Amino acid sequence: ETPQQKPPLSIRLCAPRGFCAGVDRAIQIVELALEKYGRPVYVRHEIVHNKFVVDGLKAKGAVFVEELEEIPAADAGRPVIFSAHGVPKAVPEDARTRNMFYLDATCPLVSKVHKEAEIHFRRGREILLIGHQGHPEVIGTMGQLPEGIVSLIETEDDARRYVPRSDLPLAYITQTTLSVDDTAGIVAVLQERFPEIVAPHKEDICYATTNRQEAVKHVAPGVDAMIVVGAPNSSNSQRLREVAERAGCGTAVLIQRADDIDWQDFEGIGSLGLTAGASAPETLVEEIIDAFAGRFDVTVETVRTAEETISFNLPRELRDPVPPAQ
Ligand code: F3S
Repeated sequence: ETPQQKPPLSIRLCAPRGFCAGVDRAIQIVELALEKYGRPVYVRHEIVHNKFVVDGLKAKGAVFVEELEEIPAADAGRPVIFSAHGVPKAVPEDARTRNMFYLDATCPLVSKVHKEAEIHFRRGREILLIGHQGHPEVIGTMGQLPEGIVSLIETEDDARRYVPRSDLPLAYITQTTLSVDDTAGIVAVLQERFPEIVAPHKEDICYATTNRQEAVKHVAPGVDAMIVVGAPNSSNSQRLREVAERAGCGTAVLIQRADDIDWQDFEGIGSLGLTAGASAPETLVEEIIDAFAGRFDVTVETVRTAEETISFNLPRELRDPVPPAQ
């Protein structure tokens, strides 16, 4: 096949896509900490769920650990950063006991859910968390309160079978990166069974999750295939793939980068929807467009369904020009 004979392909780029304000802030915190305090800077858990981002920060001197105890005693004075997903209360407590200097990159919208959990607890409510077991955000949110206080609801079935453990009024909170539609289904079951259940004042699913799903719903029904750029352990990216599939897109795949494209999936297509999870950098989207341009005669059109202007302040330590005494 000569280049002139490449088949045409219309790529519809979802907007918004990719980095959200919480991811942007978390990555900046690691970069600024490296600039201000030098290397190594420790990061507890992947700062955001993206290998490309993590590898880039490793190259600059960030060291990733899963638990604080992995940090060598000799480096106890080095900064340690908590990931965007948030941490159980025990983690900063542990850091203080070990005299560690920590910076918290928890997304402010996750911290907001943590605060809701505490308020419900203080007001004497029984708390249900809608979320996915094992995800670090869920571990962090449940860990705001003593073990056993927060009950996890993963599915509509869980909501149907839930047996309150007390006579206390019920309240629910949610993970920030859930499927908007699945969550609405679960909430409907809870509200039908427990009409008095207290809901969040403002949705816990964050603006970025909502907007990215909305854009996919708009694009997916009109394309032959859909690619979500993101990591398999990224909750919001997984949800985008599901949304595309449910919107009727026959081929909807989650891939990390261009090397992962299985070209058989895209044989004979005329249109492709493309989006990226909140932790996936734009360069990976560009890399995928370039890979398609090598095989197709590509035209790219952006389909924008929302504008985003939100940004978050950095922690005080990184705004202040003088490093604290170590
Ligand atoms: Fe925060 Fe939502 Fe991003 S909770 S880290 S703004 S996906």
